[in-house]
Amino acid sequence: MKKLAFWVAGLLVLPMTAATLHAATGTIKPGAPWFDTSGRRIQAHGGGMTVWKHTYYWFGEDRSQTNDPAKRYVACYSSKDLVHWKFRGQALALADPENLGPHWVLERPKVYVNPRTHKFVMYAHLDNAHYRLARVMVAVSDHINGPYKYVKSFRPLNEESRDIGQFVDDDGAAYLIFESRPTRGFFIAKLTDDYMNVEKTAFIHAPLEGGALVHYDGLYYVVGSHMTGWRPNPDVYATAPAITGPWTEFRNIAPPEANTYNAQSTMLFAVKGSKKTAVIFMGDIWEPRTLWDSRYLWMPLEMGNGTMHLPPPQPWTINVKTGETALKQ
Ligand code: GAL
Repeated sequence: MKKLAFWVAGLLVLPMTAATLHAATGTIKPGAPWFDTSGRRIQAHGGGMTVWKHTYYWFGEDRSQTNDPAKRYVACYSSKDLVHWKFRGQALALADPENLGPHWVLERPKVYVNPRTHKFVMYAHLDNAHYRLARVMVAVSDHINGPYKYVKSFRPLNEESRDIGQFVDDDGAAYLIFESRPTRGFFIAKLTDDYMNVEKTAFIHAPLEGGALVHYDGLYYVVGSHMTGWRPNPDVYATAPAITGPWTEFRNIAPPEANTYNAQSTMLFAVKGSKKTAVIFMGDIWEPRTLWDSRYLWMPLEMGNGTMHLPPPQPWTINVKTGETALKQ
């Protein structure tokens, strides 16, 4: 009985301890289990970031073991400091919308806020078990944290679309990045006014996935990974003075033997502070057999003179007001 009481107490106390530890240190620990403010593991894989009303919203694949295996879930978290994340619920809980069959796929969700319609619009990669459908799905909500309602799926620009990425430029223009295998490259496509479709902006002739884009100090930087499925590989980047190019050759963001420190790019996120702009590499360390246990590798990138470098992961802090970041031991 005593033993049982100990275990029950332990179960109650453990998650709290994790949350409290995170709160106390205020650091982001790349690769470590990341807990939300209620002490549960953050489920936001292949994620995206939306800024709305001075708050950050992190959306991603919710791979919780307790989920209904017939449905696909997108979780929503909010934060003021990018370190402490409050679970805002499962923004999307979707049953197979188009008879895709067992093991259908919904990956890399991204949410955009439409300033004209005031709707929240979610894009995600929609596919069957063999990744042959290659479409995006669109779901819409009146509230940032959902529930999002499935609207449709389509092939953007009538092209195959697998990994998608999200980018909002300084002028507010919103873009979808998507990988197209037959054309051996990826598209950057501006969302139409209602955000329900896309128009062609640029095509980058490089067979890369996990595409992410950021605008920093007058240059556009695009990052992608090679196509090795869940297995990590050396992510590469290129730069251009305009989204339409011309783009430089691709270069490594870290020593190739580091294999992107076992991560794959999902998003580049710029925090424009009063003193400087921090550019955060958001990556996934995938655990294909236990996807729920996949980790996040977020690190501030070293940027300058048209170069981008991902330093070896270590704990770090960020001041979102000033944009300053600091590495911790
Ligand atoms: C990765 C991709 C993931 C997932 C996986 C499946 O390359 O980035 O989102 O689709 O392949 O093998």
